[in-house]
Amino acid sequence: MRYQLAPLYCRPWTLNGISARLIESHYENNYGAALNRLNAISEEIERLDLGSAPNPSLARLKRDEIVALNSTLLHELYFASLGGDGRVVPDALASAIAKDFGSVDRWRQEFVGIAAGLAGGSGWVLLTYVPRDGRLINQIASEHNQSIAGGVPILALDMYEHAYHLEFGANAGAYIAAFMRNIDLSAVKQRYDDAIKVAPPRPLEQKEFADVPSISVEEVREMMKSGTPVQIIDTRPKHYTTKAQDIMDGAVWRDPERLNDWIGTLSKTEPVVTFCVYGFHIGCQTASALRKAGFDARYMAGGHYAWKAIKGPVKLFE
Ligand SMILES: [Fe+2]
Repeated sequence: MRYQLAPLYCRPWTLNGISARLIESHYENNYGAALNRLNAISEEIERLDLGSAPNPSLARLKRDEIVALNSTLLHELYFASLGGDGRVVPDALASAIAKDFGSVDRWRQEFVGIAAGLAGGSGWVLLTYVPRDGRLINQIASEHNQSIAGGVPILALDMYEHAYHLEFGANAGAYIAAFMRNIDLSAVKQRYDDAIKVAPPRPLEQKEFADVPSISVEEVREMMKSGTPVQIIDTRPKHYTTKAQDIMDGAVWRDPERLNDWIGTLSKTEPVVTFCVYGFHIGCQTASALRKAGFDARYMAGGHYAWKAIKGPVKLFE
């Protein structure tokens, strides 16, 4: 694989307080160098003898590749972040930012604050969209990596000294202010539009239980905290419970294979939550059977271990 150089995206002569000379040097000496390094690393990887014995160079080269590739990608995003006036945030972007940061001002303060904290050191400040949560977040990326897994950066501020030293010396604050004055916010908005089209990670699908409603462990915790009456039934299989040490506090264990023995003890006026070990089958089957019998039953997604993972209280299982 040979990576191709991207043309300079912003027009250096239009920038306000960031000189063409600085951008040219940055583009040629740092972006260009990263791209050349990336291509050299790819070539080296292709030349490796990957025969039977593990090649010790491979892991090192693959690590170097991440750094060079991310440096390339982030520099392209950095140059594409400049060329605007940094002032007018398009409406859709402004409301997305306000939703996730409180206000545009608050986002700006946080972004600039992170950059100021990197002054004299190195790293990136990125505005990144996380499809899993459908939200924007400011992040630091040091060593060109530490990207948020699955995140889509839409704005990049280069805080490596090479990005400003030539013109601003140690005055990183002036460089940050100049960057903020030159953000092309309509381009950021376009990248945001593209980013939100990325699908979130696929959720767990249990087609056979599609008609059985579930409840999250967080919702169950809220019900318990608020004192909402709820009957919580631990239906982990008997063979499993013989080695189980703990049980969700507030739950009673009932043998899922003997449903008919205990169904009569449940109230039909209070909701029922059932769960098993991981939330796959037994808890769903029990909830399904209870619903057929006229109970307002749901299964707790993720089961016993999801409850433990949110540090929900447990007690000794006897
Ligand atoms: Fe740079």
